[in-house]
Amino acid sequence: MIISEVLYDDVLALRQRVMYPDKDIDFVKLDDDDRGLHIGVFENGEPVSVMSIFLHGREVQFRKLATLGDMQGRGYASALMKWLIEYATDMQFDRLWCNARVDACGFYEKFGYKKTRESFSKNGIDYVIMERRFGDIKSA
Ligand SMILES: CC(C)(COP(=O)(O)OP(=O)(O)OC[C@H]1O[C@@H](n2cnc3c(N)ncnc32)[C@H](O)[C@@H]1OP(=O)(O)O)[C@@H](O)C(=O)NCCC(=O)NCCS
Repeated sequence: MIISEVLYDDVLALRQRVMYPDKDIDFVKLDDDDRGLHIGVFENGEPVSVMSIFLHGREVQFRKLATLGDMQGRGYASALMKWLIEYATDMQFDRLWCNARVDACGFYEKFGYKKTRESFSKNGIDYVIMERRFGDIKSA
């Protein structure tokens, strides 16, 4: 397994296939994708799990974490999450956060994320903002 930057077109294709199979590629583009870092896990030279990260001051938002359906349950998203936590720790960032699909909260909780009080629905999907505050973790 190799973790590396992913070509933007490959990120879009994987996002669309896994997260919004009923929509077209344009639907999965984010306004600020051009200032994001697109990271993925590669197997046999092909991306199997991707996420996009965005720096906001001392905070990092990650978006659109997705693993190909037939590759799920093999630890790929976990590898990305560990990479991100190490990166944020090394950079001494204050906080990692995401808009988590409610049905994926259990995944993030495994990595120390906590639900905030902020939640919303978009395109028929329920989300809750989840965060991992490094100050809290260090002092815990
Ligand atoms: C959520 C997702 C990214 C996880 O990817 P993955 O590569 O299958 O994850 P891993 O193999 O690293 O899973 C690690 C662990 O998390 C668990 N897990 C995976 N998805 C989970 C979920 N939705 N809720 C709770 N636990 C979950 C696995 O069972 C596994 O548990 P284990 O270590 O006890 O065996 C993947 O299921 C996916 O792409 N889902 C559709 C898109 C999506 O919902 N993305 C998240 C948007 S917020």
